[in-house]
Amino acid sequence: MQSFYTCSCYYTHNIYIKRCNYHFTFIDENQFCKDYKEILPALGNDDGFKIDLLIQEIHEEISRRKQAAKNSLKRKEIIKKCYKPLNSSLYRLEEIHLASSFLTLVQTAKNFGFQKTLQTLDVISEEKQLYGFQVFKENFCLALLDEIAHYEESNLPKERPNTMNKYGVLLDELGFHDEFSCILRVKYLDTLAAVLFPEWRGKGLDSHKIFTVGYKIGHDVDLSYHFDNCEVTLNVCLSKNFKGGELYFGDMKDVPIDKSSCMLVPHKVGYGILHRGQQLHGALPISAGERHNLIFWMRSSSIRNKKCPMCNSKPLLVACNDYGDGFTQDFELSNKHICNIT
Ligand SMILES: [Fe+2]
Ligand SMILES: [Zn+2]
Repeated sequence: MQSFYTCSCYYTHNIYIKRCNYHFTFIDENQFCKDYKEILPALGNDDGFKIDLLIQEIHEEISRRKQAAKNSLKRKEIIKKCYKPLNSSLYRLEEIHLASSFLTLVQTAKNFGFQKTLQTLDVISEEKQLYGFQVFKENFCLALLDEIAHYEESNLPKERPNTMNKYGVLLDELGFHDEFSCILRVKYLDTLAAVLFPEWRGKGLDSHKIFTVGYKIGHDVDLSYHFDNCEVTLNVCLSKNFKGGELYFGDMKDVPIDKSSCMLVPHKVGYGILHRGQQLHGALPISAGERHNLIFWMRSSSIRNKKCPMCNSKPLLVACNDYGDGFTQDFELSNKHICNIT
């Protein structure tokens, strides 16, 4: 496999602290106090803001990130050795799991190009380039939910999917990588992205991150406005029994907020929304039941090697043992600056 890298900004930028609902940059304490002195009181709790506590939380998140790749490898080994799947047939993506209309859509993209493809899916917003279509059959989604619950009930190691979501499962760690997520990306979604988002797909979607997110009252209930660390996202609803939780989509991340308009998109089991990673979005609070969605972040090294979306600079590469954040060494771009993280 091609070697992938993380950008060094992973250890300094976009450190999300949920109780402040804010993404911080932390280089050192001087920079931090200087940059945030003015806005910290507005982000604090009613009982007074404690900056030392916040800095401690940020240090904890940075050290979690520094250990993340090593810990992920350990978890994968333990899961591979000890986890007994409830339904092992789910781990290999077969056409029988997919909606027949999805197979037709991918064939249309492959053979007939942009205009015909648009006629084969739901154009949710032409301006925002939001596209919707049935991806999985309902029975596959419900079986996947049972599989996730089975893993969550086990005493095997687990990690939250990302800093904004506390509940959910990293599917590649559970064993979905080789025969499920890689096939979904390479055989199906890369073909769609080539037609729908050629400027974001570049030379190909060559790595990914895949996870589920879970919402229910008493756990996470909503998701703040953000963009994804990827070029193209597929967001598929897996659940039936819930109310609320609609997605809302604004503009691209560099459009000033006052010029941005939002639109609501409801969920439907097995139905996916395909959008550009940098399209700002969030989810409204759930009002009843339990909602789980499958989130598939797909990355194109040929695009992100030019500019890291998380720090808006040329990435400073840090070696890793998995997909990292999907960067590669690109000698054409003299993108070979590698540093070590201690
Ligand atoms: Fe997202
Ligand atoms: Zn970066």
